[in-house]
Amino acid sequence: MFDTTNDPATNGLTGRTILTGDRPTGQLHLGHLAGTLLARRALQEENRQTILVADLQALTDNAGNPAKVSGNLLEVVLDYLAVGIDPEKTVIARQSRMPELMEMTLLFLNLVTVSRLQRNPTIKTEVEARGFGESIPAGFLCYPVSQAADITAFGADLVPAGDDQAPLIELSNEIAARVNRLAGSEVLRRAELLRSRAPRLPGIDGHGKMSKSACNAILLSDSSDEIRRKVMAMYTDPDHLKVSDPGKVEGNVVFAMLDAFDPDQEEVENLKDRYRAGGLGDMALKRRLEPILQELIAPIRTQRAFLSRDMGEVAAILDRGTERAREDVAPRLAGVRRAFGL
Ligand code: TRP
Repeated sequence: MFDTTNDPATNGLTGRTILTGDRPTGQLHLGHLAGTLLARRALQEENRQTILVADLQALTDNAGNPAKVSGNLLEVVLDYLAVGIDPEKTVIARQSRMPELMEMTLLFLNLVTVSRLQRNPTIKTEVEARGFGESIPAGFLCYPVSQAADITAFGADLVPAGDDQAPLIELSNEIAARVNRLAGSEVLRRAELLRSRAPRLPGIDGHGKMSKSACNAILLSDSSDEIRRKVMAMYTDPDHLKVSDPGKVEGNVVFAMLDAFDPDQEEVENLKDRYRAGGLGDMALKRRLEPILQELIAPIRTQRAFLSRDMGEVAAILDRGTERAREDVAPRLAGVRRAFGL
């Protein structure tokens, strides 16, 4: 069970300056809950935490469909609030309303080469996945520089994220070092990756990770009927035809979900042994999983529905967070400007 109160990755962390961000391209789902939302909720207690809703970064590969970004901006904020991210403890800020970040990005662009960006492993993978070929939008190629501005502007020393973000943090640290060399003093800090302990949750269809665009996600707003339907449709082992057949645990989405959310992990290990040996049916497993997911999501869905009755307030929370964030980053922008003699 991914319980952040006992999570060695978040427990005991105090006094750190933490930045995370999300591209608002869809509502958040169970994968986000296991991967980052619960950790953020725990981290906000003893640390200075900012969450950046990265709508500019989202546009770098969605410029043809900006409504996908604007339409999901407040949905994502609503998801944060519904899981218990408290705007009094965590600053929630909107990237596109922070001109400081854009100015820092533009200055930072003078410190990196195009070939360095093209060789960035994160960018390479993403360019391939998006099928850009030779037609990479310049904004997309440069988003790691903008992300370096995000990280350094907030003075973050810790960035909780997946492994895929490691090359971006490395680049950010390189840029910070160059700025500091220009300035002759420590204007910007180094940041460190806090690797998410939770494994990537697969989609209910078993094809790759859970994502809303792949239509294989269980959303934090899903009704109990939708959750039931999605559990029943979950990919298991296609060769496990009869209950008595031996079944495969690897790649089996139901087991991935039980690994992530079942409070009785010992029993999950027993079930895996029985499933592998044959004699344990998919339905029995799904009947175990369904109430676990129902209980996990019900309070989030209820809170989300309640908060969504006043979207004006959700927007105001984002505006207030953005104002606080702008005050937070201003002195670091001033230091960067000075480093460049501006
Ligand atoms: N790249 C992150 C993602 O894909 C989003 C992001 C933008 C981010 N700015 C950030 C993450 C700063 C950590 C820190 O979701």
